[in-house]
Amino acid sequence: MTAPTRSEGVSGNSPIPSLGFRDNVSGILAARRDQLGFIQYAAAQGDIVRMRLGGLPMVLINHPDYFQHVLVDAHAHYDKDNFLYRAVQTVFRGGLVSNPGGERWRVRRRMMQPSFNRGSIVDFTPGMTELTGGLLRKWADRRDPGAVVDVSGDIGDLTLKIVLRSLFGVEAGADVRAFERNFLELNTIVGNFFRMPFPPLGRRPRLRALIQEMDDFVDRLIRARQADPQERRDLFAALLNGTHGPDGGVFTQEELLGEILSTIVSGYETSSHSIAWVFYRLARHPEVQHRVQEEVDRVLEGRVPTLESLARMPYTRMVIDETLRLHTPAWQTMRRALRDDEIGGYRVPRGSSVYLNFLTYHRHPGFWPDPERFDPERFTPENSARRPRNVYQPFGSGPRFCIGKYFALTEIHLVTAMLAQLFTVSVPAGQPPVGFAPLVTLHPKGGIRLHLTPR
Ligand code: HEM
Repeated sequence: MTAPTRSEGVSGNSPIPSLGFRDNVSGILAARRDQLGFIQYAAAQGDIVRMRLGGLPMVLINHPDYFQHVLVDAHAHYDKDNFLYRAVQTVFRGGLVSNPGGERWRVRRRMMQPSFNRGSIVDFTPGMTELTGGLLRKWADRRDPGAVVDVSGDIGDLTLKIVLRSLFGVEAGADVRAFERNFLELNTIVGNFFRMPFPPLGRRPRLRALIQEMDDFVDRLIRARQADPQERRDLFAALLNGTHGPDGGVFTQEELLGEILSTIVSGYETSSHSIAWVFYRLARHPEVQHRVQEEVDRVLEGRVPTLESLARMPYTRMVIDETLRLHTPAWQTMRRALRDDEIGGYRVPRGSSVYLNFLTYHRHPGFWPDPERFDPERFTPENSARRPRNVYQPFGSGPRFCIGKYFALTEIHLVTAMLAQLFTVSVPAGQPPVGFAPLVTLHPKGGIRLHLTPR
């Protein structure tokens, strides 16, 4: 069933269809057992539906017109001050991703934007390829080349190193694995908040301990930078100086920690899962892998990729786009209605939590034929042009779209091309399909492990 549109007789006063009592009760239970399955079930009931997830009331929307309305056209009537982001705020304390919005968000976004513009990405690419080359050498020099590789773990290290070097001018030390472990545990606790919203997160001792350890990591970075006499003009410098002109609003020490932490985490984690899923898809679809290798060999002729050469590897990019459709790592977001509104002819009362799930959205059968099938051909220019605007948006849309979109796409493309140059990936015999672990972000359950054979 798809909810009728206004032209089909829904007036601006119509209440949003609700899942039935039984469904809502099972939603509370399912949130503990199978959160993802329940969300998929709810989305299949209509393009706009009221539901409870783990007891928390929300309005699920799942149609391009509704996404366009909430994220773009009426964005000023929605903010992020809702229970999902309040939970995340416990960790990020005003950081851009979870910042409620308004002028304080705008000032931060403006301050950080230059570090994500094309000019900055051009500067970052040599560092990205150098660090990737280091990992590929480590893989090539393994003592046991037949052993299965923990791709998720190694790529997590790589993307964390890339963010630290590119945005903060820091060479990662031995403490990156501990940082990643801490963040995984933290992500699990905050993700579980949907299953068990009480007691408030801020009072959970283990969470406080983890935040403290991550703060200490950031604090070490700040002290090292402050002791460095060399003057730099990177994101770190902009954040430290709090230089955002006449608007004022210099960070407190607490907010500075939160912003750096939020940038590091948003910058490494989603990209890391994306790259690991791309490798997994290449391994699962040898014919696709073959085409990627053929394109990469033809364009690069053994050279290291550059930003310029990426544009000449469109098939590899199609594979990445299709992977991000099926394995959207930033799989959910939420907005709060700041005033009474109307979506698709339905009344949305002020204060409603509007829930957007990119994973169900990218599998909407009305826009994606045979949605579960992995098919990079969906992203040829002709096929993309046939779909409605906004139906594909792994990086969100509107003013709060991902600030790191081009950073991430460049990184994923470079790493994929370099892998394809040197290795053929394959799934270990007998390995079952890898599922999802729905935390705040979406993880490959148990991680991605593959065989890597030198070409
Ligand atoms: C494949 C990788 C990535 C994906 C899928 C992704 C996805 C997203 C999405 C969907 C949003 C919008 C959320 C919303 O509207 O509520 C977002 C926001 C954001 N992302 Fe990413 N992201 C990725 C990589 C990155 C990277 C590499 C960085 C930084 C280095 C980054 C930093 C941010 C920040 C700071 C925001 C908040 C922007 C704002 O509210 O103004 N992301 N991301």
